[in-house]
Amino acid sequence: MAKNEQTAENAQLKDIIAHAKEYGFVYPSSEIYDGLQAVYDYGAYGVELKNNLKRLWWETMTRLNDNIVGIDASIFMHPTTWKASGHVDSFNDPMIDNKDSKKRYRADVLIEDKAAAYENAGDKERAQELLNAMGRLLEAEDLAGVRDLIINEGIKCPISGTSNWTDVRQFNLMFSTQVGSVAEDSSTIYLRPETAQGIFVNFLNVQKTARMKVPFGIAQIGKAFRNEIVARQFIFRMREFEQMEMQFFVRPGSELEWYKQWAETRMKWHLALGIPKEKLRRHDHEKLAHYANAAMDIEYQFPFGFKEVEGIHSRTDFDLKSHQEFSKKKQQYFDPEINQNYIPFVVETSIGADRLFLMTLCNAYVDEEVDGKQRTYLKFHPAIAPVKAAILPLTKKDGLPEKGKEIFDALKYDFNIIYEDAASIGKRYARQDLIGTPYCIAVDHQTLEDNTVTIRHRDTTEQERVHISELHGRLAEACSFRRIFEKV
Ligand code: GAP
Repeated sequence: MAKNEQTAENAQLKDIIAHAKEYGFVYPSSEIYDGLQAVYDYGAYGVELKNNLKRLWWETMTRLNDNIVGIDASIFMHPTTWKASGHVDSFNDPMIDNKDSKKRYRADVLIEDKAAAYENAGDKERAQELLNAMGRLLEAEDLAGVRDLIINEGIKCPISGTSNWTDVRQFNLMFSTQVGSVAEDSSTIYLRPETAQGIFVNFLNVQKTARMKVPFGIAQIGKAFRNEIVARQFIFRMREFEQMEMQFFVRPGSELEWYKQWAETRMKWHLALGIPKEKLRRHDHEKLAHYANAAMDIEYQFPFGFKEVEGIHSRTDFDLKSHQEFSKKKQQYFDPEINQNYIPFVVETSIGADRLFLMTLCNAYVDEEVDGKQRTYLKFHPAIAPVKAAILPLTKKDGLPEKGKEIFDALKYDFNIIYEDAASIGKRYARQDLIGTPYCIAVDHQTLEDNTVTIRHRDTTEQERVHISELHGRLAEACSFRRIFEKV
C-alpha cells in the first residue's frame, strides 16, 4: 500500500471510530476518567448489533448442526488448567522498552512494521527476508538476536526517535488475581485468555449428559482477557473481549478432512453475511503452534490492511491429553462403531465477537456523494441491523401519531423498531441511515384513508407504497436469519 493510500485508509478508520461513538455503537470505557486503553463499551445500537452477530453465530453452530451443542463455562478456572494448556509457560509476547521514552513495544510488531515499510516501498523480498529472520530467532527463543535485529535494522522508537533499547523479555499475557483474601501463590487464579479450555475440561460432562457421539462439537460464547501491551486499531485488539469458539471432536486420523470442511464452511458464513469475496482471504500458517497439525486464518481487509478475524486450527489431541495428564482423569471416548477407546482429536473454529463487529461496521460504512450532497449510512444486512424499521408519522397532528403508534405496537413484539415523530422527515431518514436501519415506514394522510404506508429503502432511498397488513411479512422475510443460513 502506498503511503498516501495508507493515510487515506487511516482517515477512514478515524471516521468509522468517530461514527461509532457519535451514533451509539462503541465508546471508550470509563471515558469520563479519560478511558482505559484497549477497553471499550458498547452503546444502544452497538449492543443490538453485537447481540445479533452473536445470536447468528450461535444459531449457525447449534441449530444448523444437530451434532453441536453449547455450554457457558466460568471465566475463572482451576489454575492447573492453564499449566496444562501451556498458557502459564508459553503464552508470551516478546517485549522491548525504549529507555528514553519509557514506552514498551512488542518486539515482533516493531519488526513487522519495518517489514511493512519495505513492502510499501516496493521491496517485497527484503520484507520477507526480515520476517523470516525474525521467525527463526523467535523459534530458537533467541531474544538477544531479536534485539540485535531491531538495532541492525535501525528501528527507532516512534516517540523518542532513538534506538536506545532495553533487552527483549518475554511477557505473559494472562491477567492474574487472588481467590479468597490471602495473597499466596496457591491462591493465584487467572482470567481466562481463551474460552476453549472451558470446553476441553467439560468435554466428558457434555459428551455424557447430552449423549453426543463423535464427531460432535461444543460451542461457547464468552469473555476472554489478555494483557495486550500494544493496544491498537480500536476494538481490533482489546484487553477484554468476547470469543465465539467451537471445538469439534473427531476420530484420530480424520482431523485434516474435518479441518478442510470447517475452513470452507466458515468462509461461506462470512460471504453469506454480505462480506465481499475480494475483501476476505485465507492465510495458511507456515509456522504451526506445537499443538497443531494445520492452522489458518480468515482475514478481512480492514482499513489498516488484511488482518485475522477468525482462526481455524487442527489442535490434535494436545489439550485433552494434557488435561488427562495433569488431572489424572481419563479423557477418553469409547467409540461404539469401531469398538475402541481413544482421546478425540479437535478441530477448532475461533472468532472474536468484537472483531466480527468491527469487520461488519467497516464493511457497512458508506460515505458517498449523491447529487452534490454527502450521504453517510450503514448498509448492514437487515438480519443483523440493530434497528429493523422506524415508524415515522409525517406530522405530529391530524391523528398521524396515533396511527403510527398503532403500527408500532403491532410490530414491536417481533422486531426491534423505533417510533419517532420529531423533526422533519428528511432529518429522521438521515438519522436512521446513520444507524443502519434498513426500512423507514412513513405514515401520512393517505394512511388514514386506505391503510397504506410508504417504505423507504435505506440503500437505494427508493420508496414504495404498501398496505399495513403486509408490513409484518415483509420485515419477517427481510430480517430473518434464514436468508443467511440458506447460503451457508
Ligand atoms: N482458542 C484459540 C484462540 O484463542 P486466537 O487466534 O488467539 O486463538 C481467536 O484468538 C480469535 O479471537 C481471533 O481470531 C480474534 O478474532 C479474537 N481475538 C484474539 N485476541 C483478541 C484481542 N486482543 N482483541 C479482540 N479480539 C481478539
